[in-house]
Amino acid sequence: MRGAETWPAEGRRHPPRSAPTYWVLAPLSAWLREEARDASRSLGRYRLLDVGCGAKPYYPFFEPYAGEYVGVDPVHPDAELVGTAEDLPVPDGSFDVVLCNQVLEHCADPARAVRELRRVTAPGGRVLASTHGVMVYHPNPVDLWRWTHAGLQTLFERNGSWAELTVTPCAGTGSCVTTVLAMYVHLSAKRTGLTSLGGGVIRALNRLGPLIDGRSALLREPNPGTLFLNYHVRAGVAPA
Ligand SMILES: C[S@@+](CC[C@H](N)C(=O)[O-])C[C@H]1O[C@@H](n2cnc3c(N)ncnc32)[C@H](O)[C@@H]1O
Repeated sequence: MRGAETWPAEGRRHPPRSAPTYWVLAPLSAWLREEARDASRSLGRYRLLDVGCGAKPYYPFFEPYAGEYVGVDPVHPDAELVGTAEDLPVPDGSFDVVLCNQVLEHCADPARAVRELRRVTAPGGRVLASTHGVMVYHPNPVDLWRWTHAGLQTLFERNGSWAELTVTPCAGTGSCVTTVLAMYVHLSAKRTGLTSLGGGVIRALNRLGPLIDGRSALLREPNPGTLFLNYHVRAGVAPA
């Protein structure tokens, strides 16, 4: 494996402020960096399965703590194993930490995928999943679902027995609206060749979103009328 310091997909781990998806990627990175350390405190050196791994952008966060890091993906060349989340090619209870980041929206059968995530997690282990609330259509190779915090909670509750389950909404209503605007600014700037002007506008939008959310808990916490870009799910399995 390449060294963690030269690992690709740096833009997912440390997105620039001019990235239209800054408020998806920055909170996701911060969360996974903290979860990597937390898992090591609870589990010692752990075995990790990265489901729908793509280029394994978060490998450098986990590499100091993971004795084993295995990626599974239906098509990506960086995966060690070929397979889908709905049909994982690994034995029951064989991994302590199971990642599934920005994948559930691409799964034909997300309920079956959650049952598989639970099946392959060892006693005392945990699933760390993330998926979108609001996002533009982005087939990879398909794009089928969006979630609410309540919908994700229900999906996990109905498809696994968990000792602990938390669903955390990320980036509030203001950041959600400014991110959607930023995406269309990004697209228009690309089409017209005005990328540096677009970058400036996106940076300003990315600053504005949290300023709006900071003004009202009604906007940044899940209430009727709110929007969220992304959700982080931590689902822990009881020890043996
Ligand atoms: C948006 S990328 C996310 C990649 C990586 N997890 C990350 O956080 O950057 C979605 C990945 O899910 C994979 N994928 C699509 N359908 C899948 C399925 N049913 N099961 C597992 N992975 C799937 C795609 O091949 C792609 O690598």
